[in-house]
Amino acid sequence: MPVIISAGAQWGDEGKGKVADVDSANADVVVRYQGGNNTGRTVVNEYGKEVLHIVPTGIFREKICIIEKGVALHPPSFIAEIESLRRRGVPLDNLKISYFAHLVMPWHIVKDRGKERSGREGKKIGTTGQGIGPCYQDKMGRSQAIRVADMLDARHFAEKIQEIYHQKSAKLSHYGELPPIDEVMYAYMEARELIVPFVTDTWKIIKDFLRRRLYILLEGAQAILLDVDHGTYPHVTSSSTGSTAALMYTGISPDEVEVIKGVAKAYVTRVGEGPFPTEIHGGEGDLLREEGHEYGSTTGRPRRCGWLDLPLLRYATEVLHATELALTKLDVVGKMHRIKVCTGYRGVSEIGAIEFLNLESQEPEYIEMEGWGELGNPECRDDLPENARRIINMVEDYTGIPVTFISTGPERSQYVR
Ligand code: IMP
Repeated sequence: MPVIISAGAQWGDEGKGKVADVDSANADVVVRYQGGNNTGRTVVNEYGKEVLHIVPTGIFREKICIIEKGVALHPPSFIAEIESLRRRGVPLDNLKISYFAHLVMPWHIVKDRGKERSGREGKKIGTTGQGIGPCYQDKMGRSQAIRVADMLDARHFAEKIQEIYHQKSAKLSHYGELPPIDEVMYAYMEARELIVPFVTDTWKIIKDFLRRRLYILLEGAQAILLDVDHGTYPHVTSSSTGSTAALMYTGISPDEVEVIKGVAKAYVTRVGEGPFPTEIHGGEGDLLREEGHEYGSTTGRPRRCGWLDLPLLRYATEVLHATELALTKLDVVGKMHRIKVCTGYRGVSEIGAIEFLNLESQEPEYIEMEGWGELGNPECRDDLPENARRIINMVEDYTGIPVTFISTGPERSQYVR
């Protein structure tokens, strides 16, 4: 069973990039299966600090890296990303893109941003404004979508852009103006030249690796609480983000899965709108944000910060079918004078659909403990301060699954098992 799935167990920004960067050392292939450049995975390694939006983290270790069909690919930003990697000397020969990934077009971005701007207060999603929702809408609509496969033939690609541009510009005028067609055409035709050499039949590669029993890491973006079906709808992203989605988008059988790793932070953050029972309003939240550098890696927006929410984490690990957990940023939360952990919601024994629908009005119950200051350089779990170990034990007791990876700082080497 050679497949490992790594997926976020909160509302994103759990430190998945760091965990996948470490895990990719043992993988032969790393696959990015959904989302677009609404996500940013920060990786710090021998190449420096890089925020990856689309390219799988395995690129730094010269693994085969696949951008699968569930991804929404924005060609101009993708080109900027690979140029940045190239400048750092990261080899890109192993990068592969599915024929079936969908393209984010300028009209998707205009619609996404225009809708957010004109949305009534209380009705906004707080999207990243990267056009991801409208791109997936067109994918499901099946008449105005453009896929990577459409790039192969230059004339066909240009005609398709031209045709849909005119249909969209008439419809979207109340959301904002599209860039001029010449500009769009130039940017996308230029991107086409650079993207086409990476396009290949990714299923054939995956099939071959499965047959040879080589290791495949499926690297998730966003997180299960942002999943369009299992998350806090409508304040979610527009793709499926869980472990079952990893299989759906790649076509891999559940029988092939060995590990499902949920990634969670020792506290919680979320960007955009939506319920957040353990959110900290005021000074302590600001402190946590500063200590953890909790600003969106895609948009720079300040992230809302809150305490670790064990009931939601249990729900997340159940829906993810997580077999183990990675816990990140213990070094950050330890700097708080007092730390709270939510162990339940008043009067609720288990989060079900009704509690989920009323997440906003849940009353969290907390236990409190003292922070431990600096974490130092622990070499194993037993080296961690007592309260840090207490949090890890609580996570394990509450979710019923082991914490197998504890991140103790941003560097690749900073973790204990
Ligand atoms: P969209 O994915 O840009 O449509 O945004 C929908 C919601 O998902 C918003 O609340 C975003 O802030 C959130 N979101 C999307 N991607 C990420 C991510 O990578 N980390 C955290 N939140 C995200």
